[in-house]
Amino acid sequence: MSSYLDLPVLGVGLAADISSTQPDFRKLLAKGNGAYIDYLNFGAHATQKRRVQHYIGDLIEGDFPLVFHPINFNLCSSEPEPDGLVRELVELVDYSSPAWAGQDVAVWMFEGQYLGSFLLPPILDDESVEETAAKVRTLNQLLPCPFLIENPPVILPVGGMHMVEFMTAVAETADCGLVLDIGHLIGYQQAAGLDVTRIPVNELALDRVIEVHVAGLQQAKVGDSTHLLDQHAYPVDDLCWSFLEDHASKMVNLKGITLEQEFCPVEIVEKNLHRAREIVTKTGVLESAH
Ligand SMILES: [Fe+2]
Repeated sequence: MSSYLDLPVLGVGLAADISSTQPDFRKLLAKGNGAYIDYLNFGAHATQKRRVQHYIGDLIEGDFPLVFHPINFNLCSSEPEPDGLVRELVELVDYSSPAWAGQDVAVWMFEGQYLGSFLLPPILDDESVEETAAKVRTLNQLLPCPFLIENPPVILPVGGMHMVEFMTAVAETADCGLVLDIGHLIGYQQAAGLDVTRIPVNELALDRVIEVHVAGLQQAKVGDSTHLLDQHAYPVDDLCWSFLEDHASKMVNLKGITLEQEFCPVEIVEKNLHRAREIVTKTGVLESAH
C-alpha cells in the first residue's frame, strides 16, 4: 500500500450526499464553465456498496477522482473493529478506488447502531493517543488505500490535551496523514473556552495535513454564550476562510481542499469554489493539481 506522502494532488473537491440534488454535484463536474470540482468526497456506510454503485458507478468507471469518507470506525476505542465491517469497507474501497480514505476520530457505532451527531469524541489524553494510534495503524494495514484521520466535531472537550496536540500525537505515533477540518477546530476552540482566532497552529503537524475540510458554521445562542456548530448546508464562515488563507502555505503536503456542502444550494457552493480557488492561487498550494 502506498504511503500518505505519495498521494496525488487532487485539487479542490466537494463533499456532497451522492443521492442529493442539493447541491447537484453533476453540474460541477465539467471544467471550463465557471465553478467546477476536481474530485468528489463521498461518505458511505460499510453496507452501502450497492447504493454507491447506483449513484456514482459511472464516475467510478470513468475514473473521476474520489476520496472516501467512512463513517463506521470507532477510532478511539481499543475494541477491535468487527471482521465483517472491515471486510465490507475493504470491498467498498476496492470497488471505488478512492485516492485515500479519511474519518473523524470518535466512537460512531454502539452495539451496531450508528450514532451520527451523537458521536462520542475522544478523551484527549495520552492513553487515548496510544489506543487511537494502534487502531489507525491496524486500519492502514487492512485498507487498500492510505487511511487518514480527521479532527472530530466537539462540543464538550474532555481531557487535558488540546485537540491539535492530540491529533498530532496520534498521527506521529501511527505515522499517518491528517484531514484538518477547520470548522471542527474552530468549534473545539470555542467549546474549550479559548479564543477562536488564536488556534495553536504551531503545535499541529501541518506537514501531515493531506486534506482540508471547509464547511459552514451555525452560530447558536445558548444562554449568554454563542456556540459554533458545524453545519454543512450553511455558507462557509469567514473564520474558516481566514484560517485557510493564513496557514495553507505551511501545509506542504496538501493534496486537496474539500468543501463539505451537503444540502447547500448550488449557487452558494459555486461562490465557495471560486473563493477556494482564489486562495489556492494566492497561497500557491496544490500546485501540481491537474
Ligand atoms: Fe470534515
